[in-house]
Amino acid sequence: MAKNIAPVYYGDYLKLDTLLSAQQPHSTRYGAEAHDEMLFIIVHQVYELWFKQVLHELRAIQREFHQPKLDDKGLYLVAHRLRRVLTIQDLMNDQVAVIETMTPQEFLEFRDYLIPASGFQSIQFKELEIMLGLHRDKRVAFDQSSFFNRLNDQDRSYLEQLEQQPSLFDLVDKWLARMPFMNIESFSFWRLYQSAVDKALDEDEALIRGNNSDAAQLATELAGIQSNRDNFHALFDADAYQQLQQDGRVRLSQQAMLAALFITQYREEPAFNLAWQVITGLTEMDEKLTIWRYKHAMMVQRMLGTKIGTGGSSGHDYLRRTTEQNRVFKDFFSMATYLLPKTALPQLPEQVQRLLGFYHRD
Ligand code: HEM
Repeated sequence: MAKNIAPVYYGDYLKLDTLLSAQQPHSTRYGAEAHDEMLFIIVHQVYELWFKQVLHELRAIQREFHQPKLDDKGLYLVAHRLRRVLTIQDLMNDQVAVIETMTPQEFLEFRDYLIPASGFQSIQFKELEIMLGLHRDKRVAFDQSSFFNRLNDQDRSYLEQLEQQPSLFDLVDKWLARMPFMNIESFSFWRLYQSAVDKALDEDEALIRGNNSDAAQLATELAGIQSNRDNFHALFDADAYQQLQQDGRVRLSQQAMLAALFITQYREEPAFNLAWQVITGLTEMDEKLTIWRYKHAMMVQRMLGTKIGTGGSSGHDYLRRTTEQNRVFKDFFSMATYLLPKTALPQLPEQVQRLLGFYHRD
């Protein structure tokens, strides 16, 4: 690393003059300063700084996924950067408590001076959603065109061109779908897995039939087993899987879902460990973002009750709906439907184990 040629001064390096003069309450324009407006501004600014850092990490992660081949070093970097994002998300979630020290009455002292500004206009937050893979047609109804209508032309066209780029979801799907190891010479993991699934479900069925004397109870439990069989059938059958996608019940491609499942089931194999950390990291990121949405929605209900938002949405009701609908990596959660207990997993042939492990020659 080259040595710095000029001495650096703390405040200059951090541009503190600019940063610390950027808190300008609007209440002073109309009368006395509303004491809590400073907190409101600073909390939003701190969030925007963290959004900036999260986007910085996610762009670096996307660059790794864009490489023609994502090797272990690249995958390590992805997992490492994801861990940082998760740590920042924990901080962002805890930080909701700071704004909650403001009471609804204190907020009302300056709320009307903000109209029609709104969190809808947080371009970094919308960029985050789009970059992760939230599609316009999947957004909560109010949002589909309305939030775009509330942006200036420059911001709108910036986000619209982002919508044309491959999202993290698309890149992860492609990466998983091209995973090797699922078919090696005569070995087909899916044939093996399918017979393990059939065996496990047959055993469950035999147990239920043996333990139930009540006909109605037996019928209910057998229907449960049949529903499990149908779920697994869809996983192994291209047409049935496509139907699930069309119904909006899964989003990952079939190949990607199968690969994610293979990695998750055999995560302790050295060749899968980093990939599993990435899948888990993305799952946690989705969960933590959902928690943020939920905490923000609860805080908004406390502040506004059923009042509409300054951006014109139904406020709490709109935000509550986004917690379920605006999720991107939900498939990694529903993957649990297809997991088998360790004891029921098929033993991998030695030839495959050798490929997945790190072997030293004597
Ligand atoms: C008193 C505190 C707050 C209130 C009452 C509030 C209220 C609202 C409301 C009602 C909405 C829905 C859009 C609308 O109709 O305006 C919204 C959206 C949003 N707010 Fe807040 N908010 C508060 C604090 C914050 C903070 C501290 C952040 C941090 C950056 C934030 C970020 C956002 C974002 C990103 C959205 C868009 C969410 C989406 O479309 O899914 N808000 N807020």
